[in-house]
Amino acid sequence: MQTLTIIQPDDWHLHLRDDAMLSFVANFSARQFARALVMPNLSPPILTVAQALHYRRRILAAVAEKHPFEPYLCLYLSENTSPGEIEKAAQTPWILGCKLYPAGATTHSEAGVGKLEKIYPLLERMESRDLVLQVHGEVTDGDIDIFDRERVFIERALQSIHRRFPRLRIVLEHITTREGVEFVTQTPANIAGTITPQHLLYNRNILLVGGIRPHYYCLPVLKRESHRQALLEAATSGNPKFFLGTDSAPHARERKESPCGCAGCFSAPLAMELYAEAFEQAGSLDKLESFASHHGADFYRLPRNRATITLEASEWEVPEHYVSPTGIEIAPLRGGESCRWRLVSD
Ligand code: NCD
Ligand code: ZN
Repeated sequence: MQTLTIIQPDDWHLHLRDDAMLSFVANFSARQFARALVMPNLSPPILTVAQALHYRRRILAAVAEKHPFEPYLCLYLSENTSPGEIEKAAQTPWILGCKLYPAGATTHSEAGVGKLEKIYPLLERMESRDLVLQVHGEVTDGDIDIFDRERVFIERALQSIHRRFPRLRIVLEHITTREGVEFVTQTPANIAGTITPQHLLYNRNILLVGGIRPHYYCLPVLKRESHRQALLEAATSGNPKFFLGTDSAPHARERKESPCGCAGCFSAPLAMELYAEAFEQAGSLDKLESFASHHGADFYRLPRNRATITLEASEWEVPEHYVSPTGIEIAPLRGGESCRWRLVSD
């Protein structure tokens, strides 16, 4: 049987939520990844280092002993964040940066930033303290088509942030377009981008052809095939500016299967399996390890992992739902369909 052993990967963009949901989902990620950058868009959001510290403890308490897992966090930037908080964050080794959510762009982004100029003093402080800015790169203007929101954000906001703060280290999170790939490729080494498994494997047809499939709905939304091709090319290029961030974003099944379903794909139970499939389709399985296990650690200036994981080519059926002991049902990406790779468990 074909097998693939690589250095254990890290997930540089992950949603773990809180309380019973956190307890349920944390080990799906800990089984696959050694470390993760856990997103701060809780309700209420993680705005301060003190809140991040408590959240980090709750994450560690949710992880089973057999899966050593190191959570890193970032602060949720708001217009009221104080420069002192940025200073504290810069002195906290497990805080890797601050996340910019344009207000209204995605799940729990209401407390995000309206006018970018308002946070310029914070960005200046981040630049001087070498703290990374993680960006949800979409405009929220009602007159901009949802499929254009990433491109327009790059044109209207990201270019000017980069010009004004040229040494600020930025990760454009979950890139979904050719323009996202071009921005990352054409800028210096302090700019990087993460890519999700769903954006490597699917285009927007999966959402709508033959019926609406809410479990493939995430933000930024899947784009047309030419964009998927650009992302696949970037991920498999060996360029260290592109690395893994699943954006696994669990929601209870009834919140997705609803007249107004929320955004987020739950990929944690089969994340590496999906990435392996995408890289294999591109004929680039040999590039999976650097994308998944080297580039992100190098960008964040952390040591590369030493442990390894093994994937084997043995087909399995992805469950339609995972059900927690407290009764939360979550439908994973690919649920009810088959998956070609399987992570070999301990
Ligand atoms: C994320 C969530 O559910 O928190 N949803 C998503 O569609 N990706 C938020 C985000 O990262 O945009
Ligand atoms: Zn996300």
